[in-house]
Amino acid sequence: MSEHIQVERNGAVQLIRMNRPEKKNAITRAMYAAMARALAEGDADESVRVHLILGVAGAFSSGNDMADFMAVATGAEGGTEVYDFLMALAGAAKPIVSGVDGIAVGIGTTINLHCDLTLATPRTEFRTPFVDLGLVPEAGSSLLAPAIVGRQQAFALLALGEGFSAERAKAAGLIYDVVAEDELEAAALAAAERIASKPPEALKIARDLMLGDRAALVARIKEEGVHFRARLKSDEARNAFMAFMSRKKG
Ligand code: COA
Repeated sequence: MSEHIQVERNGAVQLIRMNRPEKKNAITRAMYAAMARALAEGDADESVRVHLILGVAGAFSSGNDMADFMAVATGAEGGTEVYDFLMALAGAAKPIVSGVDGIAVGIGTTINLHCDLTLATPRTEFRTPFVDLGLVPEAGSSLLAPAIVGRQQAFALLALGEGFSAERAKAAGLIYDVVAEDELEAAALAAAERIASKPPEALKIARDLMLGDRAALVARIKEEGVHFRARLKSDEARNAFMAFMSRKKG
């Protein structure tokens, strides 16, 4: 387990909280592993009906831990934790709600493409600087984002790295609603409880129909992964990671 992932039960809602505020919830391999396990365990537990993913005040997540990126870029083994998490997310049997406040970078944005309802606060900015980092879209986002927000908004998000405010994200269909900071967690929990109150069998069929062909999503995640792993070792990416890692020293 990771000390930075807290898993709690609130009735039929399983709350998975990323809790590494000192790094704005940058996600480490141990955190991916803990979240994958939580999703699998919640799916297997009949008393759980909904997963709720939260961050901390001001930071949903600053994305993949840059030090982990750098390690792979300079030759370390990548591990399967990210892949395992993405498979658990894309294959989740139960609905997923997310509550996002503040920073939502990289996978901090793309997690939400797998959620059934996302609530975000007015100060939230969704941003995926994949290309600026010499990388490519991940987590199936190259398939999901164009389907959800249309090709041109997806291009602005995934290729240009434009920030999407919560209002823009809502207008684009990326999220369900915008709620005030001090109401976020209660509103996200209430949304999860509302889902949990529905007849679970009918809800499961309805959700599965809306999700459609998950085999295509899994195939896309794998295809993106091949490029992503290769890109991690590119000069473009290494230079971008080095610029981030050394910026504090300047
Ligand atoms: N990986 C590792 N550490 C990270 C991180 C990440 N993705 N994002 C932030 N941190 C760390 C910072 O290095 C800093 O650590 P330090 O205090 O030990 O130096 C701490 O978290 C706070 O970050 P800071 O940059 O001071 O906060 P900020 O509010 O000014 O900026 C961000 C927040 C998220 C905008 C900025 O940190 C950032 O751009 N991070 C990289 C995001 C990214 O590109 N992720 C990968 C996407 S694919």
